[in-house]
Amino acid sequence: MIIRKSAEEIDRMARAGIVVARALALVGEHARPGVTTGELDTLAEEFIRSSGGAPTFKGYRGYPASICASPNSVVVHGIPGDYRLAEGDVLAVDVGVTLDGFVADSAYTFAIGEIGAAAERLLEACREALHAGIEQCRAGNHLGDISHAIQTATEEAGFSVVRSLVGHGVGRAMHEEPQIPNFGEPGRGPALASGMVFAIEPMINAGGADVVVHDDRWSISTADESLSAHFEHTVAITPEGPRILTASEDRVEAGLLQ
Ligand code: MF3
Ligand code: CO
Repeated sequence: MIIRKSAEEIDRMARAGIVVARALALVGEHARPGVTTGELDTLAEEFIRSSGGAPTFKGYRGYPASICASPNSVVVHGIPGDYRLAEGDVLAVDVGVTLDGFVADSAYTFAIGEIGAAAERLLEACREALHAGIEQCRAGNHLGDISHAIQTATEEAGFSVVRSLVGHGVGRAMHEEPQIPNFGEPGRGPALASGMVFAIEPMINAGGADVVVHDDRWSISTADESLSAHFEHTVAITPEGPRILTASEDRVEAGLLQ
């Protein structure tokens, strides 16, 4: 069952979403060559707690940190630690915050210093795929419209969509129904309705779509070690159309796209 949220509940989720957006902007400001991913994790956790929220990921199925920090060929779920960022890296950062009983979830892939043209294109394609998916978050559409829009945008840009990882419904729990694949057929799947809230999260690779899980049992990398990108927003379907709950002024000011 897809749990629908009231307008008041969506406003509460938006407050969690602002904390997520600000935490991501803060991480982005500090994600520079020489900084470790563990330092970024500490920074994010302190900010989230000082905002009255809790880092949703910490302790989730034993996950040991507050954020996921996934450099270069790591697709998602990189555990922050001693990895020191270097000029030319790309770093996907995923943040979840629980505030007032609701979760918001968002990810952004940062360029560390100057990155190559191919990496720039990958990041841009992933952002565009996310927004193509968000655009389909409208009452009367079907789940497959979101999936198809993401897949089309990604493949037209010459990149591949990871098949084994999906977006998801989000609310009082981080993972609610439905699962939202980043590939699929338009018009298929459940009809979308106002009050549904989804974490839309394309994970796209410069090379092949296959991924492998590391020995730490969390980090997931591209099988061919090509670069990967991940962008995610928590989005509510409202009578006025899609409402992004994890965008904020701060994020725009920090030079990050909504
Ligand atoms: N955004 C990710 C997801 O939706 C974050 C989960 S990380 C975990 O699955 F550690 F909490 F599992
Ligand atoms: Co998510």
